[in-house]
Amino acid sequence: HDAGGRKVFHLRAAPGSHRLRPGRPTATWGVNGAYLGPTLRAARGETVRVHVRNGLPEATSLHWHGMHLPARMDGGPHQPVEPGGTWSPTWTVDQAAATLWYHPHPHGGTARHVYRGLAGLFLLDDPEAEPTGPGGASLPSRYGVDDIPVIVQDKHLDEDNQLVESHPLTSEVGVLGDVILVNGVTGPYLPAGTERVRLRLLNASNARIYRFGFADDRPFTLVGTDGGLLPTPHRTTRVQLSPAERAEIVVTLRPGQRAVLRSFPPDLGLNVWDRRFAGGDDTLDILEIRPNRTLEPSPRLPDELAAAPALADRDTPVDRRFALNGFAINGKSMDMRRIDFAATRGVTEIWEVTATDGAQHNFHVHDVQFQVLSVDGEPPPPELAGWKDTVHTRPGVPLRLAMRFDDHSDAAVPYMYHCHVLYHEDRGLMGQFVVV
Ligand code: C2O
Ligand code: CU
Repeated sequence: HDAGGRKVFHLRAAPGSHRLRPGRPTATWGVNGAYLGPTLRAARGETVRVHVRNGLPEATSLHWHGMHLPARMDGGPHQPVEPGGTWSPTWTVDQAAATLWYHPHPHGGTARHVYRGLAGLFLLDDPEAEPTGPGGASLPSRYGVDDIPVIVQDKHLDEDNQLVESHPLTSEVGVLGDVILVNGVTGPYLPAGTERVRLRLLNASNARIYRFGFADDRPFTLVGTDGGLLPTPHRTTRVQLSPAERAEIVVTLRPGQRAVLRSFPPDLGLNVWDRRFAGGDDTLDILEIRPNRTLEPSPRLPDELAAAPALADRDTPVDRRFALNGFAINGKSMDMRRIDFAATRGVTEIWEVTATDGAQHNFHVHDVQFQVLSVDGEPPPPELAGWKDTVHTRPGVPLRLAMRFDDHSDAAVPYMYHCHVLYHEDRGLMGQFVVV
């Protein structure tokens, strides 16, 4: 903390060298280390200040994905940090407890910067809203003990263990890899000493969509998504995450019995050809959990997690429509000098988003967490019942989203909305809006 009571973080992006497998180390970029960056953590009501230093040979930025904050603190393409330069945004955390993350956002270079290793988690807490229940019910929340960050990425390595950044001509989504990293390591395993563990899954991959489940098909409980906890726990056997989406799951372990978190072929809604080249046929082992022979008992899960009053009804008229097609939204590619629209502070807006080109996309909005009102006119499934900032858009399926830009108006500095398939974002599948 500084003299003003602000929580201060120091981050420095720089090149590194990282041993991913036997042989030559991989040339990477990292934040305060060779690959990825530290987990930042702050509580609701706390004021944070992050000192970002750029030790890279080119300009970058750090964007606080999912954070509600003033546009000039957002770390998007309008807040570049030059080589050798610094940037020190500050804001007060004012949103629910959630698993957020940070990553670079230089226009045209995001895919490369994230792929090389610049990313980290930003966890938010809200001690006053911690869910509890009768009999001491609570969520596992001892970081590194029973509350575990799981940052999932896929890499394509050449014979010399170097990152292959280009993608095959057959790929519409950008680079896909067959080497899975969890928190930056290959062949990851987790020794566990408690009956239940909470995994905070982040898809920090450039393009790949994962469909997580356990190799033995055991059920688990989905408790949170991008912007915080769900209203109630959802028991399931699969959870699918497109790039930038998060899921918090709680899994029950059996003493001494290994459990393998796996990614099963995702449901992409693509044709057979596109599905194959988007990784839609792939099964990948992600993380092996190795429980001790005796496990410390865990409290049962609360029945209620985080009530969220609905921002709007399912039939509220649409305010804005967005067609994702090619490298453009509504026929326009990203232009740093063009503001696409102004949203009014304090007014709930309904956005209808549709991928109209048959390709794989998702949709992310800066500054807010939104509610999914409908998927193809139907009520959203349980995994879309909580706060979201990124959502997968199946081809031709309209999504209605409700959001409100509560404060932080600034007529001059825009926020972004875009596809989080990073190759698409870099090529211009992005727009800008201001809040006035
Ligand atoms: Cu995760 Cu505009 O970004
Ligand atoms: Cu896209």
